[in-house]
Amino acid sequence: MTEGTAGSKQTATWTTGAAEIAREAGARLREFFAQGVATEYKGDVDLVTVADRTVEKLIKTRLGEMFPDHGIYGEEGTREGLDRELRWYVDPLDGTTNFAHGFPQFCVSMGLEQRRAGMKADEDGTLVAAVIYDPMRDELFLAERGKGATVNGKTIAVSKNATLAEALVATGFPSRKRHQNPNIHFYHEITLRSHGVRRAGSAALDLAYVAAGRLDGFWEFNLNPWDTAAGILLVEEAGGRVSNFAGGTFRLNSEETLVSNGLIHDELVRIFEDLFAGRDLAALPSPQEFAAMRRSREQGLGNRE
Ligand code: IPD
Ligand code: CA
Ligand code: CA
Repeated sequence: MTEGTAGSKQTATWTTGAAEIAREAGARLREFFAQGVATEYKGDVDLVTVADRTVEKLIKTRLGEMFPDHGIYGEEGTREGLDRELRWYVDPLDGTTNFAHGFPQFCVSMGLEQRRAGMKADEDGTLVAAVIYDPMRDELFLAERGKGATVNGKTIAVSKNATLAEALVATGFPSRKRHQNPNIHFYHEITLRSHGVRRAGSAALDLAYVAAGRLDGFWEFNLNPWDTAAGILLVEEAGGRVSNFAGGTFRLNSEETLVSNGLIHDELVRIFEDLFAGRDLAALPSPQEFAAMRRSREQGLGNRE
């Protein structure tokens, strides 16, 4: 990628520079993970730890040194140079709940957006570079616009499964206003129509896994740009499709993220359409009905003795 914008002291390319920072950030996360950290609540079940804050500070400092002309928008409050042409969306620790419980599925996510002069604040620019680092597996996912996507230097591509019935997909649930979110219905329906729906707790890694062909699709309500910016570019560069739930243009602030290998995308969009219209939810026994069935089975067995 290009060596610096006009007048910059930039020394590294976008992805090589950010990859170096993400590895450093990931090493700090590994240390915090090993020693264990106390958790605080940002709200409802939205957790935050000293690791989130310390690592965001580290990334902000290092990005500032490496790319002094770039803006930074971080989950833990960093808002620097948001009028600049290039802006990093940073999630220093995606998967905080996992991290806090000692469940080793989390990552550092950094996505770079390029914006045209005069764009409205709610307009999206172009995602041009992506870095996602999983410090527990030492996996580094990289993408640059037009140059493909890699994991640890090896080119990745989305899967070839052509139907949802043979697909493994993933989703996540919001940690705020949980009672106002209908995703459990989508989870229910898509679980019954696929090989399974994983809920591993790191949206950025879910997106990277779609890019790597380990998952065939992923959806989630109400994600933020720091969760998605890097992963969306990875999926695009790995040959996947990215949209909102209606199959329309994905927006960084759209609150609807749907990605797939492309082949199962229309099928997923149709299911969303049906569920939003109140059609086709497969019936399951309620816990009460199930208990009654179990009781009558037990009685039946008892009668035979
Ligand atoms: C969360 C994770 C999770 C997703 C939540 C996100 P955080 O990010 O990506 O998978 O389901 O919606 O908020 O809070 O761990 O950075
Ligand atoms: Ca996140
Ligand atoms: Ca986070």
